[in-house]
Amino acid sequence: MVKKLNCLVSAGPTREWIDPVRFISNPSSGKMGYALAKEAMRRGYEVNLVSGPVNLKAIDGLFITQVETAEEMRHAMLEKFEQADLILMCAAVSDHRPVVRSKHKTKKTEFPQSIEMIANEDILAELGSKKEKFQTLVGFAAETENGEENAKKKLKKKNLDWIALNEISKKMIGFNSDFNEITLFSSHGKTIKLGFLNKEKLANRMFEVILE
Ligand code: PMT
Repeated sequence: MVKKLNCLVSAGPTREWIDPVRFISNPSSGKMGYALAKEAMRRGYEVNLVSGPVNLKAIDGLFITQVETAEEMRHAMLEKFEQADLILMCAAVSDHRPVVRSKHKTKKTEFPQSIEMIANEDILAELGSKKEKFQTLVGFAAETENGEENAKKKLKKKNLDWIALNEISKKMIGFNSDFNEITLFSSHGKTIKLGFLNKEKLANRMFEVILE
């Protein structure tokens, strides 16, 4: 029997807890990452999906590793990375977490004026540093200004094969929308505009371009 290719996808936000009732996060719905995981399944990949907390329906036939924090996502991604032929890092990982995660709910009157934060590991950069020749590593760049310049910097710095730029300041795309507008940049200097489409069609186009 021919062994199936393996695709590892991350999706959704992470939550960085301040105390048991408060966290820092972002508006990622998981829709883009889930669309990529479904497209990978449709194309016959064995799929591992690592997902932050989202309100999406489970995908038939797919085991989803549920995580909350960036650190949990990092562990799950590292665990599944070695066997993956194609890695799509679509999750919106919090760059920082509070230094202290309080065990008990902080009283309103005792809540601090400012919260000390510490940087989370950059999961994608870590995967980039471990990448083997057989693996294709794809990241996303969510940008509000200088999109192309910033995306290309991330492509190089994180040792990616492709980066998908979404300029999230544009209306109706990116976080928590059914639509997105993506431009793909490759490490070989290719630029491919996929345009404005729903996330399912974009996932399909992304695979077409990346696998070409
Ligand atoms: O979930 P949806 O509502 O469908 O929205 C989709 C999306 C807008 C979240 C998605 O298309 C997207 O852009 N995902 C990446 C968001 C992001 O974190 O971008 P960034 O430019 O801050 O990070 C660059 C890359 O590094 C990303 O692939 C990110 O997953 C990765 N990263 C970032 C920080 C960190 N600590 N570890 C990481 O791996």
